[in-house]
Amino acid sequence: INSIYHLNNGVKIPCVGYGTFRTPADVAEKAVADAIDVGYRLIDTAAVYGNEEAVGKGIKDSGIDRHRLFITSKLWNDHRGYEKAKQAIDETLQRMQLDYLDLYLIHWPANQKQFGTRAAEINAETWRAMEEAYHEGKIRALGLSNFMPHHIVDLMRTAEVAPAVDQIEVHPGWPHVEEVKYLQAHNILVEGWAPLGGQGAKVMTNKTMLQLADKYGKTAAQISLRWLIQRGVLPLPKSTHRERMVQNTQLFDFELSDEDMKKIEALPSLGGQCADPDDVDF
Ligand code: A2P
Repeated sequence: INSIYHLNNGVKIPCVGYGTFRTPADVAEKAVADAIDVGYRLIDTAAVYGNEEAVGKGIKDSGIDRHRLFITSKLWNDHRGYEKAKQAIDETLQRMQLDYLDLYLIHWPANQKQFGTRAAEINAETWRAMEEAYHEGKIRALGLSNFMPHHIVDLMRTAEVAPAVDQIEVHPGWPHVEEVKYLQAHNILVEGWAPLGGQGAKVMTNKTMLQLADKYGKTAAQISLRWLIQRGVLPLPKSTHRERMVQNTQLFDFELSDEDMKKIEALPSLGGQCADPDDVDF
């Protein structure tokens, strides 16, 4: 996990991160300090997770220099638009007790179902506020989450700073093949949320995944994460258990064959959120 990617603005990012979705505030501080202790340098949170303050404390507790860490947070949907987005960035920095974020994402695109023809304009206004914060040095890289190619086409009509990252749901049974291809062709690094399938998914009990685990002498979780890495997708696994945190970093002593990569890509849906960003109404 100490290998790095270079984002399209030259900023370096570790190739595996630690996710904190559904990690309650009362456990997040210790979990984040543990994650940093076992070697994670990229920590991913979001305003809506309700744990930014605890994550910030975990970062302080780790004792690792701030500049050696890569910290991401995300703008929640109730702070879309120029003024509110500016406020959201300052509030996140305040809650996390940080001077700057390494990466800041729009958590979900405003969609047409919610906003009709104004959706694209709202995303553009949010982005404009983020660009200002970027130029002010409050954020080192700007990105998106759950944006599909057509949302990005819309955003690029007015954006001055190109998005460096798009964080989308990617796991076995939900491979997003075309979207990943599009993003990578446009020099946007793809991060995968719920890389183990998220809540309720059957990725880790799926027969094919277990057979592959057996074949490579790894766990199904490691097979899933390695599959993302070999696609150039940055996985953000989460666990509050230290031994699983460690397991989820042990991904660099084996390689899936092309045939096995395809086998995983071809798996039918195994559950998970399988969110359609144009259909959500939050
Ligand atoms: P826990 O925190 O109890 O370890 P996601 O795909 O959203 O990252 O889902 C990860 C879920 O799977 C979490 O609920 C986490 O629970 C669990 N998990 C994380 N790593 C592993 C692992 N290596 N083996 C089994 N379960 C894992």
